Amino acid sequence: MRRLSTVAELRAALREAPRPLGLVPTMGALHAGHVSLIRAARSECAAVAVSIFVNPRQFGPDEDLERYPRSPDADLALLEREGADYAFTPSPEEMYPPGFAASVHIEGPALPLEGAARPSHFDGVATVVAKLLLQAQPDRAYFGQKDGQQVAVIRRLVRDLDIPSEIAALPTAREADGLAVSSRNAYLTAEERSAAPVVHRALAAARDKFRAGQQNAAELEAACRGIIEASPLASAEYVAAVDPETMAPWSGRGPCMLAAAARIGNVRLLDNVLLE
Ligand code: PAJ
Repeated sequence: MRRLSTVAELRAALREAPRPLGLVPTMGALHAGHVSLIRAARSECAAVAVSIFVNPRQFGPDEDLERYPRSPDADLALLEREGADYAFTPSPEEMYPPGFAASVHIEGPALPLEGAARPSHFDGVATVVAKLLLQAQPDRAYFGQKDGQQVAVIRRLVRDLDIPSEIAALPTAREADGLAVSSRNAYLTAEERSAAPVVHRALAAARDKFRAGQQNAAELEAACRGIIEASPLASAEYVAAVDPETMAPWSGRGPCMLAAAARIGNVRLLDNVLLE
């Protein structure tokens, strides 16, 4: 595996890479969710690049940039084990040199839900993902359905800016009890950790209702919210049935993503299920 830390090094190395080239963008602290993306890229592509960059521009002023978990040595060892060909680990100055003044502003699927809760978050995500896609120019880039709104935002980004990479979305990796794997799970106390699977349990219960014929968005949202709120440690920030492509409220027809954000203690957990 080659470790590259400047855009010039990355470009020079990737010019020689066999195709198709897969890119897996990450913020490090790699876990089973990231591994599932790397394995998909490994099985579908002749060369695999993984970027590790904790992107300051997608954190709000009150968010956990400084506290964000970092484990560079373990991450690089994991990438070696998983057979990645290139690890791209740029510094903040490499990505955002002095005088940096151009960025991507995205509306549409970026506005509701996480976009409403975290203003400018998706502009930060879209800016860094546009840069990574232009730097590496992969044939395919891999993202997790765990962050379903992020997938919709990135699909719109590449469509609207004519970025010639295909976007792949992989299913959510979960712990044995259903909790979506996330680096933020480490912030849960033992008691909070045992309550946390309620988010997926609530989404799965609503999915069961959907499969049994319930097609009313408000009823599905209420069923999910009720289960989360019944847990003494959890509170639902939003539960929304939306169109997975536009993030607009689900019309009752076509594919639906039921998305939830819940707070357990100081930790904000995100999860979703696709209803089809
Ligand atoms: P990060 O949180 O490190 O996640 C990197 C990728 O792993 C994202 O596509 C995310 O959806 C995926 N992922 C996280 N948890 C997952 C799980 N349990 N199952 C499957 N996939 C999972 O998302 C980001 O970084 C950043 O916003 C980034 C896209 C790198 C831009 O900075």
